[in-house]
Amino acid sequence: MAKIFRGQILHTKSLNEFEVFTNGFIAINSNGKIISCGNNYESWSATQNINEFEIIYLTPDQFLMPGFVDCHIHAPQVAQIGLGLDMPLLDWLNTYTFPLETKFADKEFAQKVYKQVVKTTLRCGTTLASYFGTNHKDSTLILAKEALQQGQRALVGKVCSNCNIPDFYKETYEESVKETEAYIDGFKLLKTNLVQPIITPRFAISCDEKLLSALGNIANKHDLHIQTHISESVAEIEFVREIFSKGYAEVYDSAKLLTNKTVLAHAVHLEDDEIKLISSRGSSVAHCPASNTMLSSGLCDVLRILKQGVKVGLGTDVSAGNSMSIQDAILRAMDVSHHLEFVKKQHIKGCPKPQGDPSTVDYKPLDYKQAIYLATLGGAQALALDHVTGNFEAEKEFDAILIDTTQYPLHNFDSYKTWNEDKSKEMKLLELVQKFIYVGDERNIAKVFVAGVQVKV
Ligand code: GUN
Ligand code: FE
Repeated sequence: MAKIFRGQILHTKSLNEFEVFTNGFIAINSNGKIISCGNNYESWSATQNINEFEIIYLTPDQFLMPGFVDCHIHAPQVAQIGLGLDMPLLDWLNTYTFPLETKFADKEFAQKVYKQVVKTTLRCGTTLASYFGTNHKDSTLILAKEALQQGQRALVGKVCSNCNIPDFYKETYEESVKETEAYIDGFKLLKTNLVQPIITPRFAISCDEKLLSALGNIANKHDLHIQTHISESVAEIEFVREIFSKGYAEVYDSAKLLTNKTVLAHAVHLEDDEIKLISSRGSSVAHCPASNTMLSSGLCDVLRILKQGVKVGLGTDVSAGNSMSIQDAILRAMDVSHHLEFVKKQHIKGCPKPQGDPSTVDYKPLDYKQAIYLATLGGAQALALDHVTGNFEAEKEFDAILIDTTQYPLHNFDSYKTWNEDKSKEMKLLELVQKFIYVGDERNIAKVFVAGVQVKV
């Protein structure tokens, strides 16, 4: 049945356009598409047959916002979340990750893990995720089916790797191409748009030139999304240059892997020319602040990347990132942005002044509204799905989370309410949002909707 929600609503329209409806409504048709959203319910409803809608009233402690978008998460790695985070990237991959991912040849094991992964990301409010599976076609299809069954919007990629990884996990060129084609065929049987395949070369180190080009061609032939890693750690970048005698972005561009449906995770150390190239191709970046910190990869200056016209979303990058929650990624992105400001500006008496270029004096860290944009519309843009989701514009699908701010087991919310009475409605809503972002967690996510359907969490 068509629905109307009435109450406090927010979404973003761009990095710096944060829109709140304090006395808002959002109308959704029976196919889960948004008909209209705004403050002017009276004039809109006067033109409608309201009896056709179920009307749901939010309480003053609740608000609706777009669902979170996780632009980069490794589903199999959830099985080792929290482990080995005292190592740099290449050691962590060899010691922990490749042996674990090898176990996903076992479909029963994969089924067990993937069921939990989708359940947990949905519980965290992730209505759209771009998942890395493993090298295994069949278990990665299990992940795709699990997302579909639980009602999550997702891009799901069979990982490709044919060199510079341990023999027990390596594919041949022929296997990787054949299995990728079979994987795409497997999707056709699912007959859905909710979950789509995404071409997934693991990274330039683990795919030779021939495989990268073949994957670029397959993506092109089927008009598919592409995901991979770029410029995450200095040792990795040096290895890429040693192998290809080119810059990292150029390696992908030569293989036609930089398209307007490509998302590149990390991008911590991208040079200006590389950012320009990525921008000119319409490719995007998944900012993974938790993982960049945990593996000591570096500080990614997303504002620098955004300024050069590259689309940016957030990624948990589990399990190099230690949290499944994009609400946590929002906080981590703000932390990194503040730390960058310190690096650029902090001057301790008696020490030399920071050396940054003069433009860094104007550097302003990401604020919570901009971070919410990255976590929602920015992510949908980065995954080239913003025509479908990311905010509450008419014609998009209703992918949303209902936040209930009465549930703060560790914080006395009532004490806040007692001195909050005389504030404007807009100020009160913005304060509820801040409460959720800064001290809330998934316990505040009362309901999750994907394409208008309330999913079970
Ligand atoms: N680079 C190649 N593979 C991986 C991975 O699994 N995680 C991260 N963070 N970086 C990678
Ligand atoms: Fe990753």
